[in-house]
Amino acid sequence: MIRVWFVVLMVLYNLMFSSTVAGLDNSTVPPFVNIGVLYSFNTSVGRMVKIAVEAAVADINSDPTILGNTKLNLSLQEDSKYRGFLSIAEALQLMATQTVAIIGPQTSTTAHVISHIANELQVPLLSFTATDPTLSSLQFPFFLRTSFNDIFQMTAIADIVSHYGWREVITVYGDDDHGRNGISALGDKLAERRCKISFKAAMTPDATSEEITDVLVQVALAESRIIVLHTSTAWGPKVLSVAKSLGMLQNGYVWIATTFLTSYIDIDSPLSSDEMDNIQGVLTLRMYIPDSKLKRSFISRWTNLTSGKTANGPLGLSTYGIFAYDTIYVLARALDTFLKQGNQITFSSDPKLNQPRGDSLHLDAVKIFNEGNLLRKSIYEVNMTGVTGPFRYTPDGNLANPAYEIINVIGTGTRRVGYWSNYSGLSVIPPETLYSKPPNRSIDNQKLLTVFWPGETTQRPRGWVFPNNGKLLKIGVPRRTSYREFVSQVQSTDTFKGFCIDVFLSAVNLLPYAVPYKFVPYGDGQNNPSNTELVRLITAGVFDAAVGDITITTERTKMVDFTQPFIESGLVVVASVKKTDSNAWAFLTPFTPMMWTVTAIFFLLVGAVVWILEHRLNDDFRGPPKKQVATILWFSFSTMFFAHRENTVSTLGRFVVLIWLFVVLIINSSYTASLTSILTVQQLSSPIKGIESLVNSKEPVGYLQGSFSRSYLIDEIGIHESRLVPMKTPEETMKALEKGHQNGGIAAYVDERAYIELFLSSRCDFSIVGQEFTRNGWGFAFPPDSPLAVDLSTAILELAESGDLQRIHDKWLLSSACRSQGAKLEVDRLNLRSFWGLYLVCGLACFLALLIYFIQTLRQYKKHSPDEIDSSGQGSGSSRLRTFLSFVDEKEAIVKNRSKRRQMERISYRSTSEVGSNITSNKDFSRSSTSLNRIDSPNIV
Ligand code: SER
Repeated sequence: MIRVWFVVLMVLYNLMFSSTVAGLDNSTVPPFVNIGVLYSFNTSVGRMVKIAVEAAVADINSDPTILGNTKLNLSLQEDSKYRGFLSIAEALQLMATQTVAIIGPQTSTTAHVISHIANELQVPLLSFTATDPTLSSLQFPFFLRTSFNDIFQMTAIADIVSHYGWREVITVYGDDDHGRNGISALGDKLAERRCKISFKAAMTPDATSEEITDVLVQVALAESRIIVLHTSTAWGPKVLSVAKSLGMLQNGYVWIATTFLTSYIDIDSPLSSDEMDNIQGVLTLRMYIPDSKLKRSFISRWTNLTSGKTANGPLGLSTYGIFAYDTIYVLARALDTFLKQGNQITFSSDPKLNQPRGDSLHLDAVKIFNEGNLLRKSIYEVNMTGVTGPFRYTPDGNLANPAYEIINVIGTGTRRVGYWSNYSGLSVIPPETLYSKPPNRSIDNQKLLTVFWPGETTQRPRGWVFPNNGKLLKIGVPRRTSYREFVSQVQSTDTFKGFCIDVFLSAVNLLPYAVPYKFVPYGDGQNNPSNTELVRLITAGVFDAAVGDITITTERTKMVDFTQPFIESGLVVVASVKKTDSNAWAFLTPFTPMMWTVTAIFFLLVGAVVWILEHRLNDDFRGPPKKQVATILWFSFSTMFFAHRENTVSTLGRFVVLIWLFVVLIINSSYTASLTSILTVQQLSSPIKGIESLVNSKEPVGYLQGSFSRSYLIDEIGIHESRLVPMKTPEETMKALEKGHQNGGIAAYVDERAYIELFLSSRCDFSIVGQEFTRNGWGFAFPPDSPLAVDLSTAILELAESGDLQRIHDKWLLSSACRSQGAKLEVDRLNLRSFWGLYLVCGLACFLALLIYFIQTLRQYKKHSPDEIDSSGQGSGSSRLRTFLSFVDEKEAIVKNRSKRRQMERISYRSTSEVGSNITSNKDFSRSSTSLNRIDSPNIV
C-alpha cells in the first residue's frame, strides 16, 4: 500500500516538477535521485542483496562527500518469477518511477529481456548476479555488469581441467541464457586448451528431481567422469543431492560447480550435515575479493545488518552481497561526477510509446532518461576502491583483474586450494601479489593445493571410464599370413602373439587401471587383411580398437586416433643384388683402353725424357745404343713400383722423376681401389637405384598384399596400378625378385623397413636401394578422442624409455640371423679366378725367357763342338749328355772367371784412384783386361 502511494506521489511529482527539473540551473542539484532495485527478494540471494543495497544507500545518504545534498531514493521491485514476461512488466513498473538506474536483475534470463527496455529508455541496468557473457555484447549497451563476467569463470574451469590433464568434460546446466551461454563460453575456452565438452546435459531450469535423475543417468553412462555443473543457487544443490543418491559423488567422479555453490554455502551457512554430505569433494569457485580493512569491517557489520531482518535466522554474506554494496557506491560516484559536470536529470516521453495502436497498456507512463547515456559513460569511468577492492572497468566493459578462489568442499567446511586470476592463471598465492610481477601462465607456474576428490581420495581421478560398462573392449587384430613375427593368431585359439601384441600387453600392464578387452581376429587367414579396412571398422563401431602392424597414415588418422608409434617403419625399395661375374681379365677393368694406352705412352715418354736429360752426365744412361734403349724401358717401367735403380743426377731429371713418381702414386692407388671395389662389392643386377628410378621405369613393382603401400605408390608416387604386383609372402617376393622383370618377375619390391629388415635378415642376395622415402610408424588405433589412446601413448613412451620396447623388438625381430653370413664373407675374399690371367702372363714370360735361354745355349753349343760330336760318329745318348754337361760346366767356369775378373777390376780401380793414378793406369788396366779377355776367348768361342 505504501509502495502504491509512493508511486502515485512520484508520478505527481514528476508531472508537477518535470519542467522544473529540466529547467534547473547548472548550480542546482536535485534533492533526490530515484534508483530502482529489481530482485527476487524471496530468495536468499535477494534477501542478502536487499540488506546490502539498503546499507549502502544509508551510508551514502549520510555521507556528505558523495552527492552532496542529493539523496538516493531506493525503489524496490520484486522480480517474483525472475524470468520472462512478468519480469518485463515488473521492469516497466519500476521505470515508470523515473529511476536513473536499475540495480538488477538477478538472473541473466531477465537481464536479456529487460535490456531491450533499458536500451529504449536509456536507463542503465547494473547487475552483479547476471553473469552471462553474452550480456556484454554491443546489443546491450545499457547493461553494465558490476561483478565478474562468466567468461572468466569458464576460463578458470578450463584451466583447472587442463591443469589436471583431463581432455573431456560433461556439462550439466539449466537450458536458459545463463546456462547455455556460460557453457558455450566454457566450450570455447576448453577448445583453446585442446579439451572439449563431450556431452552437454541440459535441464529445464529449476528441474524436478525426476528430470534431474533422467539427465544424470545419461551422464553416468557416458565416458567422461568430469562434470561441470552450471546452474543457479536456487536448484543447483538439488542436482548434487540427486547425483549423490545415484552414487555419482563416489570415487572416480569429479564435480566442478560454478559460483552458485559458494553462494549457496556462504549465504545458507552453516549447512546441515546432510547438505554438506551431498557436496563432499566438489570443487567450486568464488569471486575473489582481496582482503582489506573495508572488507573486514563490512563482514563484521553484516551480523548487525541482518539481525532481525530475516525470519529464518541469520543470513550469511556471499561475495554477491559485497558486490551489491559496492554497486550502489559505483552508481553514487558516477552520479556525483555526472551532476558535478553540470548535467541534469530529465525525462521525456517516447513518441513511439505515446502512440500505442489502440491498446490499453499505458506505455506512455514510462519515460526516456534523456541523460542516460551520459550516466552510463560516467559509470564506466568510475575508479574507486570499494569493499570488493580496486574497482574500475577495462575498455571492453569488464571489471579489471577478475579473479576467483578455488574451493574444495571437505568435511564440515570448505578449503581454499588456490586462486585463479586472469593475470597469471592458477596459483596458491593471492592474485594481488602477482600483479606486481610479469604475468606467467607457464605450465610450471600453474599450481593448486591437494584436492580431496569425491570418495575422499587425494589421487587425481582418471577422468573417464570405459563407456560400455561391464562389456569387454573388442580389439580387432589382423590375421597376417606373412611376417607373422609381428602379429599372428595362435592356432585354434583366440589368442594372438607377436611383437605388436607383446608391446600392447606391456603397455596395458603399465596403465594404473584394468582394461577389459578381448582380441577379435580380422581377415580370412588366407590373405593379408587391409589395415585401412580394419581401422574403418572402428569408426563403424564394429571394433573398439585395433592392435597390430597398423601403419599411421594420413588417411587413417582422419578416421581414428593413434597411440604414439611403437616402431618406426618408412617405405623402402628392395632390389636384387649379385656379384659381377669375375673373369680372367678383370685386372684390366679399372682402366679404359684409352687410359691404358695413355699410361703406357707416358711411361715411355718419361723414360725418353729422363734419358735425354741424363745421358750426358749419368753413366747409368750411357753405353751402347741397345743398352741405352733397355735402360730407358727398364727405368720407366720400374718407376711403376718405385723400384728403379738408376740414379738421376741432373736437376731437371730429378724434377721430372719427382712429378712422375707422384703421378704413378696416384695411378697406382686409384687402380688398387678401383680393382678392389670391382672384385669385392656386390653389384645391383637391377637398374632400379631408388624410388625415383622406379617412377621413371616401366617395370613391374611388388608390394605387400593388404598394405597401405599400394595406395601410396599410386596416389603419392604416381606409379600406374597396372605395374603393381601384390606379394603375399616373403618367399613369393624373393622368387619374383630373383626372376627379374624380364622373366615375369618384378624389378623391385616396395615395403616398410620393419618387414624388409626381417626379409633381408635371411636373404642376402637382396638389398635396400636408395633412401627410405616415407617416415611412418606403427600405432594402435582407437576411436577419435579416446582417452585410452592417450594413456597408452604415455605407456609406450615409458616402455621406450625403460628399454623394454627394444627388448621386445630383439625378442621377436632379431632371432633369425642372416643365414648367408658365411657366404657374404666369402664374397669379400679375392679368388684365383680374378687373377689367373696375370699369373698366365707372368708364367708365359718365365717360360719364354727359359725357352730363349735354352735355344741360345743350344745354338752356341752346336757352333762350338759339331765336329767333336760328329767325329765320334756314334756318340751315344749318355755320352752326348756328358759332353753337354761338361760344356755347361765350362760355361759356368767362364762366367765365374768373368765375375772374378770384374771384382779384381773394381779393386784395382779403387786402389789406383786411392794412390792418385792417372788415366794412363786406367788404360793399362783396360789393356790388361783386354788381354784377359783374349786369354778367355778361345775357351768361350
Ligand atoms: N603395415 C601395413 C599397413 O598398415 C601392412 O600391414 O597397411
